Amino acid sequence: MTEVKIDSVNRPWVTSDTAALHCTVSPRLLAWVEDSVPVSSFTPRVVLDVGCGSGGLTFHLAKIVPRVVGIDLSESLIRETADKARDLGIENVEFLVADAERTDYRTITGEPIRMIVATLCMSDAIILRSSKALEQGFPFVFSCIESQQWQESGRSPRFAYEAEVLQHRLETSGFEVLDLWLERETLEFETADQMIDDFFDDGSLKGRWHKDGRWKTYVDYVKAGGRTFTARSHLLVNTRKG
Ligand SMILES: C[S@@+](CC[C@H](N)C(=O)[O-])C[C@H]1O[C@@H](n2cnc3c(N)ncnc32)[C@H](O)[C@@H]1O
Repeated sequence: MTEVKIDSVNRPWVTSDTAALHCTVSPRLLAWVEDSVPVSSFTPRVVLDVGCGSGGLTFHLAKIVPRVVGIDLSESLIRETADKARDLGIENVEFLVADAERTDYRTITGEPIRMIVATLCMSDAIILRSSKALEQGFPFVFSCIESQQWQESGRSPRFAYEAEVLQHRLETSGFEVLDLWLERETLEFETADQMIDDFFDDGSLKGRWHKDGRWKTYVDYVKAGGRTFTARSHLLVNTRKG
């Protein structure tokens, strides 16, 4: 097994920190993606971005590879992101609605895939489908949520992994893990208001947590004196198909 490298920071909350911190894409991951490009002898092959959302990584890749396809389950996100590509005149990206857990990736792209990437969209089914779609030696590079993220809300996010479980899953699915990092940011607050109002200022995560009970668990934790919060805990994984 590859040693899990840890980059864990405990730091005071600052006013610019909001719940959106958990979506941050790590520079470490971007560097791996860029470093993987020459290895993959691209032209004219394609890169697939699984669960592309609003296309942050897809647009980044479009600058360095000939063709990128982003897939996502959300029709509205795909429509918005495709419109954005059209408005910007970016011609080597395509955005398609697809369920990444139930679709054959080569059918989507119509040609061999030279690299699969994903940020914060990962599951056992996606690992298996990526293994089927990639030829030997090609990169599968992604980030996913680690199970300690938001532990103060009483529940791990859906699709969160523990490092050892993820590594085992990858190895049994035919991937060689070259590098595995845990990046974690734990924030320290001075007051309950900072934790309940200021940090969750845009309301979208708070809304979801209200619905599934996590908000109550979190508020109870704060009222009981809890002043730290695991705001971001991600696993970053650099693999090759074995
Ligand atoms: C946390 S967001 C990450 C989005 C983007 N990769 C980013 O880093 O900004 C997770 C994305 O995965 C998408 N998603 C979830 N399950 C999916 C599935 N089965 N197939 C395709 N996309 C999925 C969601 O619609 C959402 O856009």
